[in-house]
Amino acid sequence: MAHLVRIWDLPTRVFHWLLALLLVAQFVTANIGGNAMLWHMRCGYGVFALLLFRLVWGLVGGRWSRFASFLFSPRAVWRYAGGRMDEPAGHSPLGALSVFALLTALALQVGTGLFSDDEIAFSGPLTALVSSERVAQATWFHSEIGKVLVLALVVLHVLAIAYYTRRRGKPLARAMISGDKLLGAPAAPSGDDARSRALAVVLLLACAAAVAWVVGLGR
Ligand code: HEM
Repeated sequence: MAHLVRIWDLPTRVFHWLLALLLVAQFVTANIGGNAMLWHMRCGYGVFALLLFRLVWGLVGGRWSRFASFLFSPRAVWRYAGGRMDEPAGHSPLGALSVFALLTALALQVGTGLFSDDEIAFSGPLTALVSSERVAQATWFHSEIGKVLVLALVVLHVLAIAYYTRRRGKPLARAMISGDKLLGAPAAPSGDDARSRALAVVLLLACAAAVAWVVGLGR
């Protein structure tokens, strides 16, 4: 018998699709350049706030959004990759690896962006706090390495989702929209009520305030 279980709470889904939207905007604005860089920076602050939010939500969010539910040992990753492990309700061991890789690459990209300078009209809000050598290093990483890393991980992420949907018959993207997964065995659902959603709004606002504070440090 199949069980329809709430796996991704609404805050996690909103986080995911907002992040995807902002990343597309980041790439578009970076490629347009010029005054679009103002929006590149604004969207970057949005990504920063989302990452902070996800960090906190990984501790207090719905069951399957908590980091504890998708921290797997290398042995578990190996067993899963070899097809010797049942599909977990939340992120699989390989999915978890890609999530942590994406979040880390995005954090590096946001972090270096704050110290980057395009040497034309726009500079990150914290460039005044460090030496010009550090600014040059941050700019190099941000525009040469981090960008390619994030793009590669996003492409891999989307290809993996497409593979699982088409070849393995697992409509993962649908679950990231509705929040629910059809599972072969019962599983505890993620809490996703009005109270947890209100908490997420408060946390997101606090994260946005924290970003505004960090950005203001360079003034
Ligand atoms: C810029 C584009 C994207 C970024 C940065 C991104 C990032 C992420 C992140 C960080 C997670 C982990 C969610 C969490 O636990 O908080 C995730 C999961 C997921 N993403 Fe994306 N994503 C992108 C595009 C997409 C697209 C286009 C799709 C659908 C085709 C998609 C489908 C999914 C699904 C289904 C999961 C859950 C995977 C699982 O079941 O383990 N993502 N994504």
